[in-house]
Amino acid sequence: MSRDAQIKEFYKDQTIFLTGGTGFLGKILIEKLLRQCWDLNKIYVLVRPKKGKSPEDRFEELFQYACFDLIKCKNLSEKVFLISGDIQKPFLGLGVQDAELLKKETTCVIHAAANVKFDQTLKAASHNVRATRDVLELAKHMPNLKVFVHVSTAFSNCVHSHIEERFYTPPMKPENLLALVDDLDDHTLQAITPKLLGEYPNTYIYTKCITEDLVKTNLQVPKAIVRPAIVISTIEEPVPGWVDNVYGVIGIALVAALGILRSMHAKKSYPAHVVPVDYVANCVLAAAWKAHRSGTTAIYNYIGHNKNIMTWGRFVEIINPACWEFPSEKFLWYFRFKIRENELWHKICVFFLQTMVAYFIDFVLICVGRATIAVKNYRRLNNMMDLISYFSTRRWTFEQDNVLELWDQMGKDDKKMFKFSMEDTDWVEYIRNNILGARMYLLKETPDTIPRAKKKLKIMFFVHYAVVAFFWYLLYKFLMFVASSFYGNFY
Ligand SMILES: NC(=O)c1ccc[n+]([C@@H]2O[C@H](COP(=O)([O-])OP(=O)(O)OC[C@H]3O[C@@H](n4cnc5c(N)ncnc54)[C@H](OP(=O)(O)O)[C@@H]3O)[C@@H](O)[C@H]2O)c1
Repeated sequence: MSRDAQIKEFYKDQTIFLTGGTGFLGKILIEKLLRQCWDLNKIYVLVRPKKGKSPEDRFEELFQYACFDLIKCKNLSEKVFLISGDIQKPFLGLGVQDAELLKKETTCVIHAAANVKFDQTLKAASHNVRATRDVLELAKHMPNLKVFVHVSTAFSNCVHSHIEERFYTPPMKPENLLALVDDLDDHTLQAITPKLLGEYPNTYIYTKCITEDLVKTNLQVPKAIVRPAIVISTIEEPVPGWVDNVYGVIGIALVAALGILRSMHAKKSYPAHVVPVDYVANCVLAAAWKAHRSGTTAIYNYIGHNKNIMTWGRFVEIINPACWEFPSEKFLWYFRFKIRENELWHKICVFFLQTMVAYFIDFVLICVGRATIAVKNYRRLNNMMDLISYFSTRRWTFEQDNVLELWDQMGKDDKKMFKFSMEDTDWVEYIRNNILGARMYLLKETPDTIPRAKKKLKIMFFVHYAVVAFFWYLLYKFLMFVASSFYGNFY
């Protein structure tokens, strides 16, 4: 093996215990390891039962995702193994045999599981802390463990405007938080949550911050904490534009493209720290190698490259023409998406362009005897946008010396195989691929449907402006009526 491919060499014969393997990042981590590092010994993937499906069924379904297409020819069952468990249960809900197996065999832990919802209760979010405590506890009994990687978030310390690659003092000690959620009833906990959160925007960020303290104070092996910013579709591997969820920024682009979302509250000149999921996976894998090599613990703010940052304004500037170029056939209305910097103006636009439309749609549905859906869904969308606006209306600066140093220390082959530098990222091409990918993997529309969708969009363009003209005409008539009544009475 070349000295330039040390990361690949590091994973040879490793047995990896991965939590969060069924998630967005986890799938790409598994795929990358299996495609690039087939010499590894095993990957144990923690899977819980969900939505009536057993861990066994979910584990089988995992490999049906398109991101595994390139490695379908390999006998995956030689390398990847299921561990049934649930991070919400004591000691990860592991069976005795599985726990013993993990303790005996694991050489590398990658802990990426988390409940990532922004609007969950503190009790639900506290499982992020409990799970990390239990994974660390398990790791303490792994005699062959070489390295522990924890996936955090770039915003875990977002109460600071400049974020360094170091541990910060958490708002509460992990053990105190866990004792609190155990002791208090749900009602009391809900009532005091805003006070506990203080400046922290939501329970997810709050618990991710506290979790870092656990990693700091536990386990005497080299550790790496990777803090990715907002994770979106793949940029290169296994295919550009692959995505499996509609959360956050991906969701924004999607519902905007479908003509559902028409306004976003953001500061156009502020950075939109979005990063591709495959580069995040590569950074995680490289960070593990570095931790082992150096024998030390390091934190990586993986937020892209400070010299090539995209802004929210640029993001929307790129999305708009891309949505014209690759429209979806499933659009509900003519696409028209704008950033509004002024919160009041944004709220007025949301009221007229989204809320009133939702009431109108539900009114029509009631008239034709169908169940209403629009108001409920728009309310959820508006709530999500409110939560996201915290991040799109604030500016953070991030130190990234450790990330740059990690990249510099990688050999030539490793840089090709585990690329994560975004210094030369072509944002236009990347965001265009995001739109194409969302079309393909989320909406299940193949590229041959684009010409038909374009025709439909043109028709919708005329419908949209006819409706707008009619609306202004009605408003004009109404104002004339009011004016004539007023002047009529006056004289
Ligand atoms: N996405 C982002 O923008 C972003 C940004 C910064 C940091 N991160 C971090 O990156 C990591 C991965 O996030 P992601 O984007 O891949 O999110 P995701 O798609 O929601 O994946 C979360 C993973 O955690 C697992 N998980 C959640 N609750 C669990 C439970 N009770 N028991 C077992 N597993 C459970 C999920 O399993 P199920 O499939 O069973 O739900 C899934 O595998 C997280 O630690 C997150 O905090 C994400």
